[in-house]
Amino acid sequence: MEKYYCTTAIDYVNGAPHIGHAYEKILTDVINRHYSQRADIAFMLTGTDEHGIKIQKTSASNGMTPKELCDTNAQKFKDAWKALGIDYTRFIRTTDENHERVVQKIFKKLVEKGDIYKHSYTGLYCSGCECFLNEKDLTEDGLCPDHMKKPELVEEENYFFKLTKYKDAIIKHIKTNPDFIVPSFRANEVINQLEDIQDISVSRAKSNVSWGIDVLDDPEQVIYVWIDALSNYITAIGYDVDSQTDEFKKLWPVDVHVIGKDILKFHSIYWIAILMALELPLPKHIFAHGWITIDETKMSKSLGNVVSPTSVLESFNLEYPDAFRYYMASAAPCGKDGNYSDDDFKEKVNAHLANSMGNLLNRTLSMLVKYFDGEIKSEFKKVSPLYDKSLETVKAVKHHFDYFEIQEAAQKIMELVDAANKYVTDSAPWTLAKEGKMEECGTVLNTVLEVMCVISSLIYPYCPNIARLMSDQLSYDINTKLDNITCNNIKPGKLISKDEIKPVFLRVDSEFADKGKK
Ligand code: ME8
Ligand code: MG
Repeated sequence: MEKYYCTTAIDYVNGAPHIGHAYEKILTDVINRHYSQRADIAFMLTGTDEHGIKIQKTSASNGMTPKELCDTNAQKFKDAWKALGIDYTRFIRTTDENHERVVQKIFKKLVEKGDIYKHSYTGLYCSGCECFLNEKDLTEDGLCPDHMKKPELVEEENYFFKLTKYKDAIIKHIKTNPDFIVPSFRANEVINQLEDIQDISVSRAKSNVSWGIDVLDDPEQVIYVWIDALSNYITAIGYDVDSQTDEFKKLWPVDVHVIGKDILKFHSIYWIAILMALELPLPKHIFAHGWITIDETKMSKSLGNVVSPTSVLESFNLEYPDAFRYYMASAAPCGKDGNYSDDDFKEKVNAHLANSMGNLLNRTLSMLVKYFDGEIKSEFKKVSPLYDKSLETVKAVKHHFDYFEIQEAAQKIMELVDAANKYVTDSAPWTLAKEGKMEECGTVLNTVLEVMCVISSLIYPYCPNIARLMSDQLSYDINTKLDNITCNNIKPGKLISKDEIKPVFLRVDSEFADKGKK
């Protein structure tokens, strides 16, 4: 595989990041890190969406200019992603000069092509969605169902994009590419929405919205957020209407846009039509993840239950973000909703990462030191069905990632951990040692350590720091590509001494963790 290009949605900067934003960035980072183990180049794009009426209003009520609000909050997103170990390749802000310039040219090109035209219009605008809604989409009380707010009646002369022109081509593309929209059960939803699609407004009158990118040659209009926002996926990597960089040529089409289910329509309909109008190849996949609730309740400012991702790291005194990443990445089956709760978090990461995985490495290395002074003897054998299971797990994990089944892949890894634990319990190397069957004892330890190398590679996308702590103690090269993984990593000779053995993950809320806090 030559390249893998993945993107996240770009977040509105009218507030600080919350756990829902974090969920998406973690999922994408896990995907990107997994493909960095398979492709020559793995490129992850994230960023912030900074224009529109919502930002304009929030900044005004905070006594700031829109730009000041954007600068302050964009930094909060960057800081949060750093704390979570989100290793993005590029961060785009829609206020970046290059982005604004190229968006203006994209808009102009579509006007010249006749795909964008001017039209006067009366409609209901929801600033939460940053889009016009149809009467029939509203609740009985006339509210936006997503934001429970009454949309504003807007009468304007706007530019419109000829979505209807691309309707049939989009339907055909979705139907002939069953893995284009992931999970596939959402494809029907999109096809239904397409049935009664209309041309969409793509600009706003400057008298109503001033915080946006100016339409070239028409100073009374600003480009409405979705054309601006969606174009980030191409402007960030060097697209321009009349010339494209080598980077763009290498990376486009994108392998996956990771987004929330609430904005699937914008990606699978609007964005696809824009790309068709620009005559660009289409994304390979659009992966719509589900919604994260807190204690089974929808997060909202009014309920006061909005959880910041960094507060979780702080309250559990976590040195590394790995446990939180692991928990969030496996919070829901592909495309389904997930939940965060402190108790469940504690229970799950203690069970999986401390008791099962970390402890397995720790006690195996400790036995190697105790019985063999940390040395792998050349007479230790490598015979175990566990090796087959390890290599099968690598295959299964790859397969799950190809279908964006990130929780399912994590389960497969934990099954391998469980199998290795069972093997140790069943073979009882401590009894073998007591009985003086040293070669057999060594063979058991050798086998488990070999499997732990594979496990460290597989867990790396979720838990990069833990994986490094594991691979260091195994003298294993964590940069091994998945296709080159063997069960032949542990070489005869001294592997480790007593004081080099370190626990890779301390139980959350354990005595140790509490001590660290004091
Ligand atoms: O929609 N659980 O920005 P946004 C899971 N700027 N995901 C959640 C979530 C939750 N509770 N809350 C939000 C926008 N998200 C646009 C996107 S892309 C060209 C423009 C997800 O800040 C949401 O689904 O409202 C979206 O994918 C992302 O966070 C940003 O949401
Ligand atoms: Mg939103």
